[in-house]
Amino acid sequence: MNGTSAIALPAKRRTSKNFITIKGAREHNLKNIDVSFPLNMLTVVTGVSGSGKSTLVRRLLYPTLLKELGGYGEKAGHFTSFTGKYTDLKSVEFVDQNPIGRSSRSNPVTYIKAYDEIRALFARQKLSNLRGYQAKHFSFNVDGGRCEVCKGEGDITVEMQFMADVHLQCDTCKGKRFKKEVLEVQFEGKNIDDILNSTIDDAISFFSQHEQDKLAKRLQPLQDVGLGYVTLGQSSSTLSGGEAQRIKLASFLVKGNTRDKALFIFDEPTTGLHFHDIKKLLKSFDALIEKGHSIIVIEHNIELIKCADHIIDLGPLGGDEGGDLVAYGVPEEIAVNPKSHTGTYLKEKL
Ligand SMILES: Nc1ncnc2c1ncn2[C@@H]1O[C@H](COP(=O)(O)OP(=O)(O)OP(=O)(O)O)[C@@H](O)[C@H]1O
Ligand SMILES: [Mg+2]
Ligand SMILES: [Zn+2]
Repeated sequence: MNGTSAIALPAKRRTSKNFITIKGAREHNLKNIDVSFPLNMLTVVTGVSGSGKSTLVRRLLYPTLLKELGGYGEKAGHFTSFTGKYTDLKSVEFVDQNPIGRSSRSNPVTYIKAYDEIRALFARQKLSNLRGYQAKHFSFNVDGGRCEVCKGEGDITVEMQFMADVHLQCDTCKGKRFKKEVLEVQFEGKNIDDILNSTIDDAISFFSQHEQDKLAKRLQPLQDVGLGYVTLGQSSSTLSGGEAQRIKLASFLVKGNTRDKALFIFDEPTTGLHFHDIKKLLKSFDALIEKGHSIIVIEHNIELIKCADHIIDLGPLGGDEGGDLVAYGVPEEIAVNPKSHTGTYLKEKL
């Protein structure tokens, strides 16, 4: 309230020469409108509930672009033409709040593919050489080093008739997922279980302290998207929607400066996010744009809207009284547009 942790306005708005243009959009309530989506920046689609945002982005832009890029999906809604300079784009990603596998066998490090290196590190230790352990012995997904009783799950599921299943810690490995002998292998005083139970923050400093810079760097994107507090081994099934979304973002940051650019589409990514988390989300958006990707977000949250490089405002109202392109441009332009409801709220923020 006193503004000390306010989300700052960006120092400057990005501009772009590349656009995707949809003409004659008329699915659902859309009133035969022409809309241009700039690339390589943060575009936010705004408007009251029922104004046509999801229809425009999820039913027209996404399926059409997906098909143009060689993918398969739902048939797009009605429009006249789809044009643009998007030859750099290799993929379009729709990121909802449940984007990563909800399996007890995947976790943040397996998702960003850092676990392979951790296993390799343990396989290189003296004791592993002596006993003939390979990288696969440090996996809980295949036989070898994992606990045989719980098959590396760490717990045992008891089916209860008419009630939710009960998960009991595995008696044999005590929830540690691995055989006792495998846990005897240590790297600088920590075994594989200790590593899986450390937070991303701790693991980054531990690995850099012990000259495993490559590994530390691998984990860095998770810290960058604000997930430093999550443990390496926390199973994906227990992550919150916002956390899962940010892991997905981190996995794209890991890929580095590839030439394969992506367009990311989000429908209300701030739902359920605290003010503090919105800041982190914005930071990861920036990081993706720095790498040459593009982002389109459907959003009601004014803190995120004010940080847009470009706004597409639909309305003026919902249902049949919506579906028009009310305004578009930088937030400063929307704010002075008397027809835009979004503008009224933006004014107070700028
Ligand atoms: N499958 C459908 N069939 C008929 N009408 C639909 C369908 N889906 C959406 N609509 C209508 O089209 C209009 C625009 O809906 P849309 O979902 O695009 O709104 P929105 O701007 O995304 O709203 P919100 O902010 O609430 O998500 C609404 O009046 C809605 O009732
Ligand atoms: Mg919607
Ligand atoms: Zn076990």
